[in-house]
Amino acid sequence: MEPREYVREHRFEEPATLSQRQEHSNNEPSDVVIETRGLTIGFSQKTVLSNVGLSFPRGSITALIGPSGSGKTTFLRSLNRLNDDVKGFRHSGDVLFNSESIWASKTDVLSLRRRVGMLFQRANPFPMSIEQNVIAGVKAHNIAKKSQLKKIAQSRLEEVGLWKAVEHRLHDSPFRLSGGQQQLLCLARALAIGPDVLLLDEPTSALDPMSIEAVENLILGLSPAITFIVVTHNLAQARRISHSTAFFFEGELKEYGPTKQVFEEPSQPETQRYVSGRLG
Ligand SMILES: Nc1ncnc2c1ncn2[C@@H]1O[C@H](COP(=O)(O)OP(=O)(O)OP(=O)(O)O)[C@@H](O)[C@H]1O
Ligand SMILES: [Mg+2]
Repeated sequence: MEPREYVREHRFEEPATLSQRQEHSNNEPSDVVIETRGLTIGFSQKTVLSNVGLSFPRGSITALIGPSGSGKTTFLRSLNRLNDDVKGFRHSGDVLFNSESIWASKTDVLSLRRRVGMLFQRANPFPMSIEQNVIAGVKAHNIAKKSQLKKIAQSRLEEVGLWKAVEHRLHDSPFRLSGGQQQLLCLARALAIGPDVLLLDEPTSALDPMSIEAVENLILGLSPAITFIVVTHNLAQARRISHSTAFFFEGELKEYGPTKQVFEEPSQPETQRYVSGRLG
């Protein structure tokens, strides 16, 4: 079955409101992989996110949309503690991963990041060969035998549709690949360590339409095994791939609901202006 058809047939039950979703999550925490509660984030004096409560059902694809500077990247980076080392970082509220606070003293940040992976807007291959890039995380986390590494590299490169293009240059530098291919390589690297959740920050903004379609199909195909949270300025993309959409505005979560509802019957005037292209 084509990934897009799969999504159409397996659409998630979509609670109408955030409060319903939260009630739902309280009853069945195992259905929610990540949840933020009253999450406020600032850097020194500046408050960047205020009181954001969102939950992400396991296996779902959620789009985060909103104007530049509304806090989407900050929110995404907070989910696997990438903001923690930023100068002046402060937070209140909480982020729960599998019902446990990510800031609990027993949380191991590296294993959190193994399970909650991230792909950035700009592809960031490591300065090592194409093959070594794919298995870098696998080696760092020691999650496969040495004899399995080549096979893992090949199957992940096949999975992202890059194998044919790179099979004869596995030992070359990744920096001669096109921008789109570099992003697919980073996706292969992220997938190789078997994440539960992938955070994608404008993953296709630098890609051509063919590569965009490839990445979207991949996301659709990997869901529901992986939960995706995708920041995008491409509203058509949000509509194509996501079950739910969260609209951020000036550091607040203005609106959240099933994607169709957010785009077709938004409840907030700012959302209406944004999704109709009159804002941001
Ligand atoms: N380290 C930091 N120190 C101070 N302010 C910061 C820091 N990081 C982000 N900000 C501010 O937080 C606000 C939100 O930034 P963020 O990058 O999260 O927005 P965004 O919604 O991802 O925007 P875009 O769509 O342009 O990527 C901005 O005003 C930004 O300047
Ligand atoms: Mg951003």
